[in-house]
Amino acid sequence: MNNNQDPRRTQNGYSPLGEPQVKRTYTPEEAGHDRHRKPVSRFNYMRRRRKRTKINIGVVLCTLIFALIIGTSLFFIIPSLKDAQNSSSTTTGLEENAGEDKEKPGGNKPAGEGNETGDNKDDLPYMTLTLSEEDIHKGELILVNSYTEYLFPEELENSITGVRDMKNEYYKMSQSTHKLLPCAIEAFNMMTEDYFNETGFASLQLNSCYRSRTDQENLYKQYSEERGEDYAKAYVANPGESEHHTGLAMDLNVNVNGYIYYVESYSECAWFRENASEYGFILRYPDDKVYKTGISYESWHYRYVGIPHAQIMEDQNLCLEEYLEDYIVSYTYDTLILGYTENSGVQPITADEFAEGYAIYYVPAEDDMTTEVKIPKECEYTVSGNNFDGYIITCKK
Ligand code: DAL
Ligand code: ZN
Repeated sequence: MNNNQDPRRTQNGYSPLGEPQVKRTYTPEEAGHDRHRKPVSRFNYMRRRRKRTKINIGVVLCTLIFALIIGTSLFFIIPSLKDAQNSSSTTTGLEENAGEDKEKPGGNKPAGEGNETGDNKDDLPYMTLTLSEEDIHKGELILVNSYTEYLFPEELENSITGVRDMKNEYYKMSQSTHKLLPCAIEAFNMMTEDYFNETGFASLQLNSCYRSRTDQENLYKQYSEERGEDYAKAYVANPGESEHHTGLAMDLNVNVNGYIYYVESYSECAWFRENASEYGFILRYPDDKVYKTGISYESWHYRYVGIPHAQIMEDQNLCLEEYLEDYIVSYTYDTLILGYTENSGVQPITADEFAEGYAIYYVPAEDDMTTEVKIPKECEYTVSGNNFDGYIITCKK
């Protein structure tokens, strides 16, 4: 019988941790125009006064001469009036145009605002998010290891949650005080319920979940003292370098009638081992990746990374270091993104080709404090930092 209760238990007195959040920048409304109404043109009419005429040669002659003079005058005056009228209209048009130029969208844009947030946004196939530098250190995919420390983002502390408050009846806990981020608890609940419905098995046990820095310090000290420094180095991360700090990692075993077993050796756990990735969980420290993770094989340590990342890592046989540092970084919005469907697996596609399933891509963080990120329209999406230099966008259609 394997008495495999993982001795690295969390301590009481956890600090709260918080859920990843992403600041969004909403597309600003296009500046509206107050269109100037063109003034109505007015024409000057000349009135002619009718005169009574007498049949008199002198009068007739005078009238003809007068008419000739008037006619000649009108011949020159009317075109001049028309010219005057035309030049008046043109002047008004120029003023209107000048006014419109000042009010054109873009003309009023604040300095530094780029095209992504400029005109014709409705025509673009993507929307734009603005992410902060802090967002690099939050999210389901953050890497925490000996060279990528967890920064304990203060706002995350508020989201760490007692598993007891959310759990279902299909698994056990070694302590009632275990805590995780809600996204990890929800995924674990879903998985264990399906697990129970499929197999009738409800003996998985959460053995260690969230750990504060102090918890990890105590654990490391305990292991060093009890089993030696080498053992502690192999199995216990330094304080600040443990992904148990994130609330996304859990140590699992099996509790049957108080006897504790390794998950890997308990035959009834086959369903769990085969299906965990479909719920977003990975075996974080596999036997064949010790050279990458720096941690000895731990059959009990699972990490929530979300869907479909866990499936892709499993399909491609990648540990989290390989997935984030080597694999995902080659997929960007403007080159090729990584399409994924359960039936077809992974497939590099252009952003325009993304029609169903998932699309994943990497966005390197800009050197300044914010980074503009393109998100395809009409999809659900999540954003996670990688905890070192950028963000991973996951879209679903
Ligand atoms: N056992 C893992 C490496 C930890 O201590 O975080
Ligand atoms: Zn662990």
